[in-house]
Amino acid sequence: MAALIFACAAFLFLVNACNNNENNNTDATETGVKTNEDSVKKIVERGKYLAYHVALCIDCHSERDFSQFSGPLKEGTEGMGGAVFGKELGIPGVVYSKNITSDTVNGIGKWTDAEIERVITRGITKNGDTLFPIMPYAQYNGMSKDDIKSIIAFIRTLKPNANKVPDRKLAIPMAMAYPPLRSSSPDNNVKPDVSDIVKYGAYVMSSAACMDCHTPMEKGQFVMPKYMAGGRMFDIGLFKVVSANITPDSTTGIGSWTEEKFLERFKHYRDAASYKTNPGKLNSLMPWVMYAGMDDFDIKAIYRYLRTIPAVNNKVETHPN
Ligand code: HEC
Ligand code: HEC
Repeated sequence: MAALIFACAAFLFLVNACNNNENNNTDATETGVKTNEDSVKKIVERGKYLAYHVALCIDCHSERDFSQFSGPLKEGTEGMGGAVFGKELGIPGVVYSKNITSDTVNGIGKWTDAEIERVITRGITKNGDTLFPIMPYAQYNGMSKDDIKSIIAFIRTLKPNANKVPDRKLAIPMAMAYPPLRSSSPDNNVKPDVSDIVKYGAYVMSSAACMDCHTPMEKGQFVMPKYMAGGRMFDIGLFKVVSANITPDSTTGIGSWTEEKFLERFKHYRDAASYKTNPGKLNSLMPWVMYAGMDDFDIKAIYRYLRTIPAVNNKVETHPN
């Protein structure tokens, strides 16, 4: 029972469900309570999976250690924000990831679920400001309501952290940077069934915002004829790296890769030995270590989807140093 009370306090959006249970105390059998507890647990677990390994909320909203390969996150900083995104990423100014812990002063402890949902799927904050689209809300806009709710449930479990994040400084009005959203009626989004692996893979891939790095941009717009053809340069000072061509082109993309090779490339980083050394200039901005925690099935689904997109001949030198 203690666990259930904790769950009710922590996951406000389930408050109604919890209250119902209390009102119907007479029929709340042992198993009834247990089922509710299990489903809350499942929702939070799904949210944690998405936030850590697919949508990568935790990646951007924590501190990363670029003395190791692909900048794994520094433990204890989860959700505190403060990561800097600036000119080196093509941003007209400087933007900081925000504190998304449940701290009530500097975090989002006072936001309602509806407010958090709106910021994740449309980039509009509690007080009506619009976020710069470095946060991939245009992609999250295609996620199912259940997946968004799971993420919110998980985010609410992050330990409050009082970190105060500076305000962004943009040289252009935000209205100029507002991106086209993926879905016109996000309330009707559903997660495709896994039996349609290509469609499901497209869903996982957009939830993981792979496109944001792998499709080149000009003047803040994706260059769609080069969808997933790579070539975006990220110069973060410590190292310079260019996103790879991951279209099925057999000479300049990953056309010759088998599913097994693709899966292995991600799985490799499940082993700490693979990233705990300083790769110097051969480092990558792609958060391999976080994506490595993706289910094998989800990684394969992305591969299957990527096989279906147009092959684009675009030679990329990923480490031009
Ligand atoms: C690529 C980096 C990136 C990813 C991934 C990302 N965010 Fe963000 N997020 C940001 C940045 C940067 C801002 C601030 C943008 C600005 O100030 O215009 C932000 C802002 C926010 C805010 C607004 C908080 C406030 O106080 O205004 C919330 C809430 C949030 N993110 C939650 C999430 C969640 C949940 C996810 C995962 C579903 C996520 N973010 C994924 C970079 C990211
Ligand atoms: C923050 C930017 C970023 C994101 C997000 C990102 N990538 Fe990458 N990716 C890169 C960069 C940069 C490289 C080239 C350097 C390297 O190999 O790590 C790369 C390389 C790759 C490669 C290796 C290709 C080769 O020829 O060796 C694959 C495969 C890949 N990415 C797939 C993905 C998939 C799938 C996703 C989404 C789940 C994704 N990437 C998300 C930046 C990103």
